[in-house]
Amino acid sequence: MMIETKLTSKKPARSELHAIAVCSDQLDSIDLDVDKKTLKLTGFDAAAGQISITQSSSGPCGLIGMGASEGITDTTFRQAGTVLARATKGFKQISVDFSSLLVEGVSARSATQALVEGLYLGAYEYTKLKSDPKPTQLQLVSIVGSGREMGSGLDRGISTSRGVNLARDLVNQPGGELTPVVFARIATKIAKEHGLSIKVLDAPAIKKAKMGGLLGVNRGSTQQPRFVQLTYRPKKASKKHLALVGKGITFDAGGLSIKTAQGMSTMKCDMGGAAAVLGTMSVLSDLSFPTRVTGYIPLTDNMLGGDATRPGDVLKIRNGKTVEVLNTDAEGRLVLADALSLASESKPNGIIDLATLTGACMVALGNEYAGLMGTDSDLINQLKEASEATGEGIWELPLPVSYRAQLDSDVADMKNIGGSYGGAITAGLFLKEFVAEGTPWAHIDIAGPAFADTPWGNHPKGGTGYGVRLLLNFIENYG
Ligand code: BES
Ligand code: ZN
Ligand code: ZN
Repeated sequence: MMIETKLTSKKPARSELHAIAVCSDQLDSIDLDVDKKTLKLTGFDAAAGQISITQSSSGPCGLIGMGASEGITDTTFRQAGTVLARATKGFKQISVDFSSLLVEGVSARSATQALVEGLYLGAYEYTKLKSDPKPTQLQLVSIVGSGREMGSGLDRGISTSRGVNLARDLVNQPGGELTPVVFARIATKIAKEHGLSIKVLDAPAIKKAKMGGLLGVNRGSTQQPRFVQLTYRPKKASKKHLALVGKGITFDAGGLSIKTAQGMSTMKCDMGGAAAVLGTMSVLSDLSFPTRVTGYIPLTDNMLGGDATRPGDVLKIRNGKTVEVLNTDAEGRLVLADALSLASESKPNGIIDLATLTGACMVALGNEYAGLMGTDSDLINQLKEASEATGEGIWELPLPVSYRAQLDSDVADMKNIGGSYGGAITAGLFLKEFVAEGTPWAHIDIAGPAFADTPWGNHPKGGTGYGVRLLLNFIENYG
């Protein structure tokens, strides 16, 4: 997708379609070069998310509904960008004007950023494997406006959506193709292109690093595991250091505790946390954020080869704790345990992990909300604020110490599954065992929002890139 977006002082002569964003309370009074009676008869009343393509005296015209003016938020602008991109796929050059909405209380920067994000996220399609793809014809979207604020919003919108669409591409790539080795190669390329340093551990190095969780999950696979560590260092030395950890199960068959065919069908998405971390890291230098950030990505698939980890086997995690594996399908927490142990060692100011961790979290919160757990109320609150600002839904679940007993094992320090209920929480309590005491930590279970079974918001079916915009907003306000 090679759509260019730019600012323009007035409607460009070459634009094939000019779109105007209108709010519902403006519709009667605003001067529009279209027949309003016909417009209303078609059902257009400028509700948020509506779009009408009509003919004006100067050519094709788009009207984008923004709903009631007092209810307009960044989400409305993002939705406007999405509906516009989707309704104009056949045009090459279009223009859009939302200047009548830039009144007091609406930030020109964040409105522009949101609209541009909506455009790129709405235009996204995964067509690499189609023999006859019919990609969008859009090449240029000119946004009427000027000035530093809108310019910076435009740049941010372009960068963040690039990060999100990278994460979507990674999730959509089939599990048999995006192996741990291939993922690590892509991460190396991204690191080079975006000024990150990178360290890739292969199997002997992972062994040396005593990552028994990652090795245990990898035992049933013919694919080599990898552990990727990426670092972004801001130009000015930063005071704070943040660690991001992403679950990178490139395919989750469940291991010997094999999944059902239905349950397995979308399990290429099980590296959605890893994709979100890489997508986020790839944008940090573009935006010159002031915080040092390290990404930790454990990579393996979870297969059931002849020497796969057996239920009852005991693994030793990097921090020395032992885990009895009673269900090999609870593998995410095993690889995250090693990564959280390692991340803790550098004593960061905060650790955030993202993981497609439990079906239980999907049952609790559905597709549009990730589960949030953690040990530090500041970190939790800052993530909730980032969720509010970006529209990426998040909902806090408790981590009651009384549930910890569900993880007690007869033979090891703990087992890898809890009881029948509260599975998202017992998974969170398991992870907590591998974060150093005193290090602020938050866990985001993205099993629901990482992958869309049906399209919603700006997401087509498949990988959503959930977490990239949330993390970027969080990091921006963290430093
Ligand atoms: N990758 C799955 C969780 C998942 C399920 C992600 C659906 C996205 C959509 C995870 O590894 C898993 O299988 N978890 C088990 C844990 C259980 C065995 C304790 C689950 O949720 O059933
Ligand atoms: Zn699993
Ligand atoms: Zn999994």
